[in-house]
Amino acid sequence: METRCKMNSCDRKPSAPPSLAEWRAGAVGRLASIRSGPKLMSLLAQEPGIRERVAAHGAEWFPGERLSQHTSLGVGGPADIIRVHDAARLPELVAYLYGFGVPWRVLGGGSNLLVADAGLPDVLLQLARGEAMAFAGNRVVAPAAANLGTAVLECAKRNLGGMEGLIGVPGTVGGALRMNAGAYGIEMGDVVRAVTLCRGATRLIESVRMENAPFEYRHTSFSSQDVLISATLELPDCPYAVILERIKQCNRKRRASQPMWEKSAGCIFKNPPGRSTGKMIDELGLKGTRVGGAVVSERHANFIVNRYHATAADVLRLMDFIRERVLKSYGLELEEEVIVWKE
Ligand code: EPU
Repeated sequence: METRCKMNSCDRKPSAPPSLAEWRAGAVGRLASIRSGPKLMSLLAQEPGIRERVAAHGAEWFPGERLSQHTSLGVGGPADIIRVHDAARLPELVAYLYGFGVPWRVLGGGSNLLVADAGLPDVLLQLARGEAMAFAGNRVVAPAAANLGTAVLECAKRNLGGMEGLIGVPGTVGGALRMNAGAYGIEMGDVVRAVTLCRGATRLIESVRMENAPFEYRHTSFSSQDVLISATLELPDCPYAVILERIKQCNRKRRASQPMWEKSAGCIFKNPPGRSTGKMIDELGLKGTRVGGAVVSERHANFIVNRYHATAADVLRLMDFIRERVLKSYGLELEEEVIVWKE
């Protein structure tokens, strides 16, 4: 009951938006009573008429979605998802969430994500698919929600190359952008010229030229409260047949070296400078190591596959085990490549 009163009093736009740190600190405090309940849920889940309120902001409410169904690794407990159908209205939706004091995160395609078994008290914003790509000469505007592989093929059909290596990277354009995903000599940042996003801190939609925001290995400087809306790519002319041949080569290499038909989140750890994590884990003889339902892939040692109904706890324990062994033998601290959402 007490929580409800607090929630209702929060359901007004604050006169001046709090800073991100102030807002998070307040929201965490408010969440304490909800966390002590039998199951995690977001503050919004208890709000009467929430479905209609969210719909009024051009979005759709999906309460208690099992994140094991929304992630390629297939683990993770429940969370409330808001699917955004009108990205132009993100500022008002984000302002609504801030006004309410509910923490939120952005969910992309879920292909590089490990979510805790208990689920999350945060609301997850996910852009709906369906918006078309726009082509003008060598420039392409790709919606963040578009499937990355489909985007590569759509560009190829128009004789635009340069993204072939990314063909087998699972997930969305937005996810690849945020992580600066890369494979076979190409990183997403190599082809991105501008990004349109809704800044969580200002609740404004901005278009950012990428010369001023350099991409690093599997890292960008976007905040977790920035909702990426679309990317403007610049791609070189290349005949479709040539692109297709390169795509086939990449697919062959990937099929030969990665467990493409098993549930995974891609590479679990980053490569330390000048080293290959997969090679190190392999040299330690850890392929096939199993914790619960999680197994170190026999095909590529930097992949953990969910082979026997793994839990997030199984995967995390296996990651800790690998980390300890690599530290002991190579003196290197492995950094996670997969995004881990505990509470
Ligand atoms: N290797 C082994 N044993 C293994 C795995 C790899 O000996 O179990 C050796 C390979 O033989 C090769 C070297 O390690 O000599 C590097 O392996 P690979 O070519 O597979 O590349 P990687 O560095 O392990 C990176 C990316 C992959 C991307 C591939 C292909 C990272 C962490 N990984 O893997 O990206 O698909 O290159 O370009 O940067 C991902 O981001 O999720 C991902 C899988």
